[in-house]
Amino acid sequence: NKRVKIKALLAQSPIGETATLMGWVRTKRGNKNVSFIALNDGSTITNYQIVADPNLIPDDILKKCTTGSCIKVTGKVVESQGSGQSSELNAEKIEVLGEADPEKYPLQPKKHSLEFLREIAHLRMRTNTFSAVFRVRHALAFAVNKYFNDKGFFYIHTPIITASDAEGAGETFKVTTLDLQNPPKNEDGSINFNEDFFEREANLTVSGQLEGELAAMALSEIYTFGPTFRAENSNTTRHLAEFWMIEPEMAFYDAEDNADLAEDFLKYLIRYVLEHCQDDLAFLENRLLEEEKVKPADQRSEMALLEKLRFVAENEFVRITYTESIEILRNSKPNKKKKFQFLIDEWGADLQSEHERYLVEKHFNKPVILTDYPKEIKSFYMRQNEDGRTVAAMDILFPGIGEIVGGSQREERLDVLTARMDEMNIPKEEMWWFLDTRRFGSTPHAGFGLGFERMVQFVTGMGNIRDVIAFPRTPGNAEF
Ligand code: 4AD
Ligand code: MG
Repeated sequence: NKRVKIKALLAQSPIGETATLMGWVRTKRGNKNVSFIALNDGSTITNYQIVADPNLIPDDILKKCTTGSCIKVTGKVVESQGSGQSSELNAEKIEVLGEADPEKYPLQPKKHSLEFLREIAHLRMRTNTFSAVFRVRHALAFAVNKYFNDKGFFYIHTPIITASDAEGAGETFKVTTLDLQNPPKNEDGSINFNEDFFEREANLTVSGQLEGELAAMALSEIYTFGPTFRAENSNTTRHLAEFWMIEPEMAFYDAEDNADLAEDFLKYLIRYVLEHCQDDLAFLENRLLEEEKVKPADQRSEMALLEKLRFVAENEFVRITYTESIEILRNSKPNKKKKFQFLIDEWGADLQSEHERYLVEKHFNKPVILTDYPKEIKSFYMRQNEDGRTVAAMDILFPGIGEIVGGSQREERLDVLTARMDEMNIPKEEMWWFLDTRRFGSTPHAGFGLGFERMVQFVTGMGNIRDVIAFPRTPGNAEF
């Protein structure tokens, strides 16, 4: 008998037909006359009800159908008596594929804390919350590719191992085959990287942008979507050492075209999951509502998850410059009850996360596209504006998340770019390949990076970034 997935079975509910399901037991209840097994196979949030008659299913088999065990059930699809579903399965045969000793199985049929589940990340995907999150994550990843494919963008796989530090922040993980306890040395005592695998220093990529720019200078419109690595020691609910980034890069786009694309893209992703992940989002929304109930009234969010998603998908984002945002922050009256200091006195200072949150959550109460930052606080590759002190940068801030996108129009003028690199002490010789795009057939171009996990967080409402990637990499955490 061929296996059918629960999602497909629920969609058709072929009453009277025989079906075979395989999955993991969530709960078993009942009495000596009948047992009800809630089965889940990951295809949907819904558990399928199996009705087992002890006259048909031997007692020793039923005993092994405990929470967490894996079973194969064949039986007749019948109309459901009261489970709230269209159908259920009257078991004729149950095979226990894998037992799960109830004394030892860590997941009990009760609510576990997210902190506890983080410690058993190898099993947490078997919970409703995490299976919902990962189905939504999948849908988002699929929507990313669909969006760009439908627009004629090409997916470029940029290298994971590279020698460049695109963001220039010096937070790279080194890649080496040298024995660092006892490395080969140059005459001056420094490590001799000529004997290393790549015959030079190498690191894990922090961004695919620079290689993406090379591709855009040939294929016009491209995107990357891959893992990126940052050894920043920030233990926050928004940072991972290994995260996935989507980086479109477009020739012939200016800063405004770039912002238009980013806004359209983010709204598309939200609409896509609203349309394709209704059950999972409804479950996640309920989960959040439960969480909210125990919070003090003034800390509860004003909008439920679905309402918030629709709001962002349907309304224009605010667009303001860095300079305008500083004016707003300067003139804002910080809430006396809060510890934050919203006041920013100096033009040129980088916005702290409390400033960003104030702008999106209190002042505007919607997503904000912040543009034209001081050049001193941004990367070398961003295009200088006429004023000589700002660059055509763009950050997109989302309510509850903060920065979700960082991007810019790129400096396409060779002389301006190399002058800036000199100012910032970036070795031009090592970047000869990057500068070649400005030497040969240069043109205005722009791009941005969307932090995929932050987007999954926004859409699922999960508060901690560790809970939207299967196996989070954070300081001190790389076991499995
Ligand atoms: O602002 P960032 O550093 O921009 C870049 O890397 C550019 N090269 C992108 C480009 O223009 N092609 O990072 C982009 C986004 C951030 O807005 C944030 O959403 C996410 O990546 N991000 C992180 N997400 C999780 N953990 C971290 N440690 C992150 N660092 C950045
Ligand atoms: Mg940034």
